[in-house]
Amino acid sequence: MNTLILPSLMCANQLHLYDEIQSLINSGADMLHIDVMDGQFVPNIQIGTETVKAIKKEFNIPLDYHLMIEQPEKKLDYFPIGQGDIVSVHYETTKHPARAAEYIRGKGAKALLALNPATPLCVIDDVKECFDGVLIMTVNPGYSGQKLIPGCIDKIRRAKKSLPDGYIIEADGNVSFETAPEMVSAGANALVCGSSSVFSGAYDYKISIEKLKKL
Ligand code: DX5
Ligand code: ZN
Repeated sequence: MNTLILPSLMCANQLHLYDEIQSLINSGADMLHIDVMDGQFVPNIQIGTETVKAIKKEFNIPLDYHLMIEQPEKKLDYFPIGQGDIVSVHYETTKHPARAAEYIRGKGAKALLALNPATPLCVIDDVKECFDGVLIMTVNPGYSGQKLIPGCIDKIRRAKKSLPDGYIIEADGNVSFETAPEMVSAGANALVCGSSSVFSGAYDYKISIEKLKKL
């Protein structure tokens, strides 16, 4: 499976979202990473559900939802989740991760369990068949522009070793042209690309995405 390149929409120019999305699609983005924050699980708040619905209606690109919200199982129907999308719910936000996964899969999407840097990988062990992958936070969730927590690379390596073949292993946080090769060789097959790579301004979107796809 090729490494999925998932530009994080929160790092795009928010006043030009339409053009930004068009340009990311034209540059070869596999999916758009949509960070959803509720001001409770994480200190930040975004993105409006009406904005997500408008994006879904207008553009033909699957969405990679990263739900940083408390009790996501109660709010999944706020979002236009469909065939080909990915939805990550945080282990730390729900007593019922498997129930959330069942709803997500029922919509034809893939369900991922997201883990904060301090959350051990083993929390997925007993429910791994209920999920299609794991999202490993390589920074604390909530903000772009943070520095990688080094132990997270080893967590990716352990995930690759212990989780089923074909599992999605998504890395999110400080994925840069320097850290991405390490993440991919550890076993990551999906990269969230934010201010450290696609939106760093070092290259245009197309060149950045091509460089990351070559890893
Ligand atoms: C962090 C967000 C990421 C972030 C990653 O909570 O989930 O999507 O934008 O981008 P960087 O770390 O490169 O700014
Ligand atoms: Zn994210």
